[in-house]
Amino acid sequence: MAKSVIILNGPNLNMLGTREPGMYGAATLADIETMCVDEGKKHGITVDFRQSNSEGELVTWIQEARDKFDAIVINPAAYSHTSVAIHDALRAAALPVVEVHLSNIHQREQFRHHSYVSSVATGVILGLGPTGYKLALIALSEQL
Ligand code: DQA
Repeated sequence: MAKSVIILNGPNLNMLGTREPGMYGAATLADIETMCVDEGKKHGITVDFRQSNSEGELVTWIQEARDKFDAIVINPAAYSHTSVAIHDALRAAALPVVEVHLSNIHQREQFRHHSYVSSVATGVILGLGPTGYKLALIALSEQL
């Protein structure tokens, strides 16, 4: 049976392509969405790809995911390092969660080294650029 995965992107990821390309690369979020939809098709996974700059909106989407999706892929961006609300929402969703970061947050400033999401994630993928999203879908296709 086809599976469905919601892919959530946090603040400033709508700026990919122009935002610090040396750090995040040239791909836009639309490019990453296309890549994810295509990768999902290969594995019988329907992808719903979203971005928000608002912590509350991300929390609401995570709450709604519980009954609508089979798993969550999330790049919480800066909220990784600050948001107990997103941590709590992911815990309550009781779904497999893959946390993705384009950059390797452990090679960057100290304040990026801790993620509130990692302890509620099934797995974490770091530092592999947009490929990380693809790898998250491959991993979920084997787990779901
Ligand atoms: C990021 C890393 C975060 O520290 C940063 O705030 C982002 C992007 C990444 O994908 O590498 O916005 O999540």
